[in-house]
Amino acid sequence: MSKAELKIDDKTIDLPVVTGTENEKAMDISRLRSDAGYVTMDIGLKNTAVTLSKITFLDGEEGILRYRGYPIEQLAEKAGFLEVAYLLIYGELPTREELDSFTSGVTNHTLIHENMKKFFEGYPQHAHPMGVLASMICALSSFYPDSTDPNTNEDEFKLTVQRLIAKSATIAAWSYKNRVGHPVMYPQNRLDYSSNLLHMMFALPTEPYEVSDKVSSALNKLLILHADHEQNCSTSTVRVVGSSQASLYAAASAGVMALWGPLHGGANQAVVEMLQQIYDDGGAGKQNIEKWISRFKDKESGQRLMGFGHRVYKNFDPRATIIKKAADEVLGEMKINDPLLDIAKQLEHAALNDSYFIDKKLYPNVDYYSGLLYRAMGIPTDMFTVMFALGRMPGWIANWKEMMEEKQPITRPRQIYMGEKARDYMPVDKR
Ligand code: ACO
Repeated sequence: MSKAELKIDDKTIDLPVVTGTENEKAMDISRLRSDAGYVTMDIGLKNTAVTLSKITFLDGEEGILRYRGYPIEQLAEKAGFLEVAYLLIYGELPTREELDSFTSGVTNHTLIHENMKKFFEGYPQHAHPMGVLASMICALSSFYPDSTDPNTNEDEFKLTVQRLIAKSATIAAWSYKNRVGHPVMYPQNRLDYSSNLLHMMFALPTEPYEVSDKVSSALNKLLILHADHEQNCSTSTVRVVGSSQASLYAAASAGVMALWGPLHGGANQAVVEMLQQIYDDGGAGKQNIEKWISRFKDKESGQRLMGFGHRVYKNFDPRATIIKKAADEVLGEMKINDPLLDIAKQLEHAALNDSYFIDKKLYPNVDYYSGLLYRAMGIPTDMFTVMFALGRMPGWIANWKEMMEEKQPITRPRQIYMGEKARDYMPVDKR
């Protein structure tokens, strides 16, 4: 193992250097405080590897994303969502037998306890489905108390995985039904994961409903593209919560909460809302686009070009490339003429030719076009992030499993205290 040398206060400290399989290098500073009395500071963890992982590789400079070594482009083109979920969680692509068994395990756990159905009645109709999803995933733990032990046996873990993936989809669809005041549709075991989800969302008991193959396959692609993205905000949250030995249900529920924010998964909803605002303000005309671009560059405006920029990708986001193509195809095939797509393209063109965005290396991210694709599929705007959460579930599970297997200690960062020095309490009348 190579090492780096750090000189502090006349002392030379040896820091072991860890090299990843793709030649990424890190200095291990875990003994720095005990050896030299220093901690490191990295607000927002912009330059800190919090774990070693074998799940996902991404190279932000080159725009590379691979799950367990497989390029995202190949998986999005050729694989099924549950096949990718298996790959992420268990480390290898499943054999036919393994895939059939995993698929039937998920399929046979899509029903949720009838008592949980009553929970939906308690939510106001305008409840955001991300809030409903997070709380209901957490509530699942009370129905399966055996699974709350994070160090449980392999069979119990397998069951929890199948339940989480299966029941989250049912909860998501039913939260939508609650929203629109329609009766819930029970899962259909004859359908694959994506088609079943669409069926639960859009079918009504009064009419036969055929899920469109095009829509189902576009959803399959989106779920795969969202399935993992190494140590992003929600996955890190899952690891932080899991590191306290909280159950997988608790950790996954926390993951949903973290994903909800507009700087993370909530960006897909924010993008469409932003495009709608531009549409209402005059649309895709050159002058209007320039006006909006200026607004996004002006920090005082408090508005960012949503769907642009990424903490890690500083060249292009490979998922955005795949989604842009899929959005074009699906909208074209479905003969949908969405004026927001036109605005999105104009805005992208203007930003990619503007020195502000070029200099700051801001490119379209996965969420720039995914919202438009969801829209074309008939998914309502506030369900976009829920779709993302369903896609990210296997990644959260894989990271939780890896962390438990590696016996990672509880996550407990340090801080540098900048507040008042010690002072004495003053009774209220003397202050
Ligand atoms: N529009 C305008 N300016 C931007 C944007 C944007 N979308 N993104 C970053 N900037 C600017 C910042 O103002 C900052 O400028 P400064 O250096 O002059 O202060 C600089 O670029 C760096 O931005 P940071 O916020 O420091 O970069 P960070 O890596 O912390 O943030 C993030 C990345 C949160 C994704 C940011 O680019 C952003 O807010 N984008 C819009 C929201 C979005 O699309 N989020 C989805 C991300 S993908 C995902 O989570 C699935």
